[in-house]
Amino acid sequence: MKPREICAGVHWVGAVDWNRRLFDALIPLPDGTSYNAYLVQGLEKTALLDTVDPAMESVLASHLANVARIDYVVAQHAEQDHSGCLPFILQKYGEAQVVCTPKAKALLVDHVDIAPERIITVEDGETLALGGKTLRFVYTPWVHWPETMVTHLPEDRILFSCDFFGSHIATSDLFAGNDPYVLEAAKRYYAEIMMPFRKMVQKNLVKVREMDFDFIAPSHGPIYDHPEGILSAHEDWASDRVSNLVVIPYISMHGSTETLVNYLVAALIERGIKVQKFELSTTDIGKLAMALVDAATIVIGTPTVHLGPHPSVFSATHLANALRPKLKYAAIIGSYGWGTKAVEQISDLIPNLKVEVLGTVLCKGFPRAEAFAALESLADTIGKKHAAL
Ligand code: FEO
Repeated sequence: MKPREICAGVHWVGAVDWNRRLFDALIPLPDGTSYNAYLVQGLEKTALLDTVDPAMESVLASHLANVARIDYVVAQHAEQDHSGCLPFILQKYGEAQVVCTPKAKALLVDHVDIAPERIITVEDGETLALGGKTLRFVYTPWVHWPETMVTHLPEDRILFSCDFFGSHIATSDLFAGNDPYVLEAAKRYYAEIMMPFRKMVQKNLVKVREMDFDFIAPSHGPIYDHPEGILSAHEDWASDRVSNLVVIPYISMHGSTETLVNYLVAALIERGIKVQKFELSTTDIGKLAMALVDAATIVIGTPTVHLGPHPSVFSATHLANALRPKLKYAAIIGSYGWGTKAVEQISDLIPNLKVEVLGTVLCKGFPRAEAFAALESLADTIGKKHAAL
């Protein structure tokens, strides 16, 4: 494929990874992804903004086949899906210098084995003139790593945002337009990648709002040519607002926990509460993460296995804790055969969740009237809490 023009002197030279299905050996990519690199050619200097995942080096090489000189490689973020082809670029273009934050310099030396003498660092707000085009670097820590920055190109009104505002989609579309599917993918991406850093997302959104641009060009997914939609969506997702939603990740071995979950789902619906339940042996954890972006309450459902929660529940609970969603309330329901420490063990898994625990409903064996009455009471409590949101 040839480089794709965004505007005069600015081209997309990245790679679309249609077949990738897992990121970090953890995050499902049902729709693949892209690693976006951008070539900015001024009257005097040429800069490459980021590279691509090492698996796609040949694609980047083909895009740059007719590019004789690169003066600067801006490494906005040190993670290897963007920095992994820096060695190839530095070898091909012997004059090129890497431009990054001081924190990124240390990470690039450690993680990608870049020679320190090839790296120049920039301060927050510093500019780099290319001749008729100016790159202005703005620190945006923790979207995604502590060293990350974005790059503003004021002459062409483009914000190159790196991981910030990204979406994991493989698409032939260069621009997102108003495609709601892109917004859905961006929410999944936010949930999986950015939600743990929600407070930093809030701060970085304020910094981004201070810049003038017509395009947001992220490092994953299509370019936003109507950026207000993705900006306001992020402001909503990262806000402290929660919705009238209960998320129930659960698993059942012999049907008892499933019965409890289904009873509670019906009881919550009767009280006007939205519910999303996720059966953990089959669920897409990306969908679960998305539900946690807005949910007010999580109810964890588990049978007891060797005194503790089922391993799938253990794993999902650990993940929910790591994602740090803005949940306000939690409860645990489930069943056991003869004894259980499931509640204690689950409680120990969620120190990051600043939730009020609304109760637990555990039953020995198959649930009976007493358990159903406890679920009615739990649904009442959740209903009152949600009414006050
Ligand atoms: Fe797309 Fe944090 O790397």
